[in-house]
Amino acid sequence: MCGFFTIVFNKENRNMGSILKNAGERLSYRGYDSTGIAVFNENEKFIIRKDKGSVEKVDKKLKFSQYGGYKGIIQLRWATYGKPSKINAQPHKDCTGRYVSAHNGNIINVHSLFEKLKKAGHRIKSENDGEVVVHIIEDYLNKGKSLNDAVKLSYKDIKGDYAFCFADKKSRKMIAVKKGSSLFAGKGNGFIVVSSDLYAVLDHTNKIIPLKDSEMIEFDSDDYTIRNIISMESIKRSPENNFLNPCIMYKRPYDSFMEKEISEVPTKIDLLREYYVSSNHLNKLKRTLSKGKLIITGSGTSYNASLLGTYFLNRISGIDVAVHLPSDINDRLKYVRDKSSNLLVVSQSGETKDVKNAIDSFRNYSKGKVIGMINNLASTMGMTSDYILPTISDMEISVPATKTFINQVVLFYILSLFLKGESKSNIDKKIKLLIKSLKKAKKDTDEQLSSLANKLIKRDFMHILGYSLTYPCAKEGALKMKEVNYMNIEAMHSSEFKHGPLALIKRKYPIILITTAKDKHYTLSHINEIQTRNGIIISISQKDKDIEKNSDINITINEKDENCFAIISVYLMQILSLKIAYKKGINPDQPRNISKTITVD
Ligand code: M6R
Repeated sequence: MCGFFTIVFNKENRNMGSILKNAGERLSYRGYDSTGIAVFNENEKFIIRKDKGSVEKVDKKLKFSQYGGYKGIIQLRWATYGKPSKINAQPHKDCTGRYVSAHNGNIINVHSLFEKLKKAGHRIKSENDGEVVVHIIEDYLNKGKSLNDAVKLSYKDIKGDYAFCFADKKSRKMIAVKKGSSLFAGKGNGFIVVSSDLYAVLDHTNKIIPLKDSEMIEFDSDDYTIRNIISMESIKRSPENNFLNPCIMYKRPYDSFMEKEISEVPTKIDLLREYYVSSNHLNKLKRTLSKGKLIITGSGTSYNASLLGTYFLNRISGIDVAVHLPSDINDRLKYVRDKSSNLLVVSQSGETKDVKNAIDSFRNYSKGKVIGMINNLASTMGMTSDYILPTISDMEISVPATKTFINQVVLFYILSLFLKGESKSNIDKKIKLLIKSLKKAKKDTDEQLSSLANKLIKRDFMHILGYSLTYPCAKEGALKMKEVNYMNIEAMHSSEFKHGPLALIKRKYPIILITTAKDKHYTLSHINEIQTRNGIIISISQKDKDIEKNSDINITINEKDENCFAIISVYLMQILSLKIAYKKGINPDQPRNISKTITVD
């Protein structure tokens, strides 16, 4: 994980520190374990200021805005190699204090490289894999190699998926390298900018220079050369106009981005409706899907959306689809003789490493197509999938996925209706009704959810159960509560609960059960198994007298369509998690240990 941003101006810019800080805020979804800047001035000097903590925290302490210079780097860490600490923070410098580098991604042979470098006399100060980059290039330069050759040889030595930038205080030029991790460049008037995040580049210019894996870009403020890092041949590539809206990142008037993004859900569903109902986007896909079995994959919240999607596709359009965790795809496909399956990857960021690995395995074993259900279209998956199903949610900043999850599952719902053969006008009507019902449910249940949040705030552990269609909803509800409430909450299929976990039930043990009215035939029995052992049942259900009567607390969603009920139930779980986070004083936008985009194994 992690992210960096670097910019070279044609003359000293006294706002450099502030520019880097703003870019850091843009990158902060990529990590907030530590933050660091390097600023270079015309006197061939540079400063590095870094520490443990988010951009906001570190800037408060180190006051980035006081530093002017003509080129600068900011790096944000999400710790994998080495604890969050000042010493492990990036950027890193070489032994002599001439070169600086920052990276994002994972260097998997870090330990053997550190050993080799130490043996060669390098003073390695941190445990952070990023420090490898600057020393290994320095090592080749010390051996008399040219900078290009040093970078090429280092690229060969450094294993893993990463991108890095490298600066020499004695040269106006910088170098950045892309290998399996996102990297974008942009050319402005009198400056060139390179970053792991497209929007951080778009904040400065919409003239984007696309970069591919195994490429390096050598640049100063006005010129750049792209090279294939293996052959060192230069590649002619002009900047392209990019009209993506970098969208202003204000949470006002909300207290968190999570709250803002939850509030945007109805509008985002409506945009999705408009996009799919007014285009022929799904027709093309229909032809592909008729040619082979569909396998769906995604991580975390996107996996839960995929799972709910399989229920929709199965129940509504009668299609038999498989859902696998991305890390299982390799094993799942290796032994299968049928090579015609298609892979639907679900990802908000389009950069999740586990999912990218799944795509690579899929391409090895299958001749089918990769369909990307992606929010960030400018991502690796957005740019490399054979078909794209955009989830049209705009940028999601808060680490917990909320509006993007809802649009993923609504898109599965639309897709299932479409494959069943429903007319566009019917789909249109259904989605409009869903939006209405979702808004109403939010309003109707607000007080109940607040009082439930008060009751659950002191709980450290509980279970959340769902039956069949609502099982993925329970999983997603539990993920949200773990992520922003730090509760040890486990999700289960309610039928499975009696096969062991029932032993946990004692007086007042709380269970949230999400159930449709139709499934009460089973879930009432599950309720009773828990209540007779003095557990507490909080049900979230469609309107049903029996479920209401048999629950200690019941939250009714007045929605007759089961599929829509399932979607709305997760929306309420998002709201409940947010309320608990506020009451516990947890910043829901940046849960501890987690980052928005996980670009590591
Ligand atoms: O960007 P992706 O959808 O591929 O991310 C996958 C997961 O890391 C992500 O959904 C994660 O589980 C969420 N932050 C949970 O809210």
